[in-house]
Amino acid sequence: TATATIPDKLLGWYDAHARTLPWRAPPGTPPPDPYRVWLSEVMLQQTTVAAVKPYFAKFTNSWPTVEALAAAPEEAVMAAWAGLGYYSRARNLVKAARAVAQRGGFPDTVEELRKLPGLGAYTAAAVAAIAFGRRAVVVDANVERVTARLFAIAEPLPAARKAIRAATDTITPDARAGDFAQAMMDLGATLCTARDPKCLLCPLSADCAGRATGEPAQFPVKAPK
Ligand code: ADE
Repeated sequence: TATATIPDKLLGWYDAHARTLPWRAPPGTPPPDPYRVWLSEVMLQQTTVAAVKPYFAKFTNSWPTVEALAAAPEEAVMAAWAGLGYYSRARNLVKAARAVAQRGGFPDTVEELRKLPGLGAYTAAAVAAIAFGRRAVVVDANVERVTARLFAIAEPLPAARKAIRAATDTITPDARAGDFAQAMMDLGATLCTARDPKCLLCPLSADCAGRATGEPAQFPVKAPK
């Protein structure tokens, strides 16, 4: 409705349009296993959803739990990772799995998750929100674009990252923070795309300051090279 808040409108859209992905629980259902969330988020860094799918299946078949992955020889994990690139991700994957197994399971806060090898601000926030329902501010490139448009943030990247994070924080709800984060990602991947935003289909078009400028694709502004 006209008076619904931005997160309510976005979650309503997500309930109807969430992409079905192997590592995801359907909207509104109990969260997926933190191991599957963490594994998918590490794989999705610098790699597309389509490319990740077969690797995610191979890994979860070979090593169904974080304990199984922790017990695997590093060479076996590196061999299974071959083709995904950025091999430091795979080395950190083994290290983090061993640390998690050692401590008896995944920590459930951003602060503790960040102490694991390879978990930066993004991955720690994504796992905390998606697997544990924590209210965490999750910002990847898709979310960055959606927020920069929604608030017509005119400051250029990379300086604008601080303002973009603060603006994302203001619209992140206490409830369903994981669904909210994934809804922002899906909106950025499917409608609020870099080149050709589909504002006519967007649940947030009436709230979007970027759209109101007439040129939403100008956001996020990039510093001249
Ligand atoms: N890209 C990275 N993580 C994602 C997620 N959980 N859902 C959709 N796209 C993503």
